[in-house]
Amino acid sequence: MAVGSLLTNTHPALRHAWHPVARAAEVADRPRRVVLLGEPWVLVRAGGRVRAFADRCPHRFAPLSLGACDGTTLRCAYHGWRFDGEGRCVEIPALGPGAALPPRAQLAAAHDVTERHGMVFLAPEEPSAPLGAVPEADDPAFLAGDLPVVTARASAGLLADNFLDMAHFPFVHAATFGAEEPVVPPIAVARDGLSFTAVSEHEFANREDPAVAAGVRPLLQRRRVTYRVDAPFHLVLRLDFLDAGGTNVIGFFLQPETEVSCRIYCTLWRDDLEGDAGRMQEAVAFEQVVLDEDLAVQQAYDTLALPLDPTAEVHTKADRATLELRRMLASFAAAASAPT
Ligand code: FES
Ligand SMILES: [Fe+2]
Repeated sequence: MAVGSLLTNTHPALRHAWHPVARAAEVADRPRRVVLLGEPWVLVRAGGRVRAFADRCPHRFAPLSLGACDGTTLRCAYHGWRFDGEGRCVEIPALGPGAALPPRAQLAAAHDVTERHGMVFLAPEEPSAPLGAVPEADDPAFLAGDLPVVTARASAGLLADNFLDMAHFPFVHAATFGAEEPVVPPIAVARDGLSFTAVSEHEFANREDPAVAAGVRPLLQRRRVTYRVDAPFHLVLRLDFLDAGGTNVIGFFLQPETEVSCRIYCTLWRDDLEGDAGRMQEAVAFEQVVLDEDLAVQQAYDTLALPLDPTAEVHTKADRATLELRRMLASFAAAASAPT
């Protein structure tokens, strides 16, 4: 298989995309070093917003993340050069006050950086696709619960594949939620540029519904499952409980750090907990166990890459959503490498 048909964590196309690099709370008053696509960046809050620069001082290439931020400027820890929020050098202590500063004393900024649904997203170069949305994150009816961020030896492409895959539930998740019907229901896929949705409906045993114990509703109830994927690794799963009511949303956002590691950001949004933080904690703990079950498989792969060539693997109609992921990411890789 040609190398270009494998989506590794450091594939050059991924430079033209939005990626999560931190939870918003992880970027406070100290510079924070993050690694994305094998490159180190420093995140700082300056002038009321997050900025991202290559983590390398232009003077002697010391990591800027060793430095300090005063809310407006970033000072390098080595020789004290100071840079403003735009990355311009505003002070070189060794030259004294009022000295002329070299024009090349300028930090290399990311193309863009922004905060969205509780995370910081960075685009190293102009993105080929817009940053995905999570409407429920801004809806006051929904309570949010963050899982601790996990660093795993894994491929972002394979993790995205796993998140969309329903056929593994009875096997990988037998100890949690998967001991149900193994047949995957028909999946309706709708592509929209470098995004797609995959919708299906199935029956499941709603053991959490108090109306089941009271004999008001049957145990087997209908659930609509809607996945939304925005290239490359912004995934949202929305579960609508059609009989009992209520909506659960799972956000799954992947930061390809290096060839062999990813950071995984998972957040739950639920409108069926009546603001009960304790029940949200239980839901987060359960999701953590589910994620650990997935990682036991994902971390065991020898080749950490997602094949984009549709003939490389064997697909069935139960793999409709994960096949679309490959098609969409192949289009994304082609768009990112096309000359502009
Ligand atoms: S290396 Fe940063 S000021 Fe010298
Ligand atoms: Fe899973």
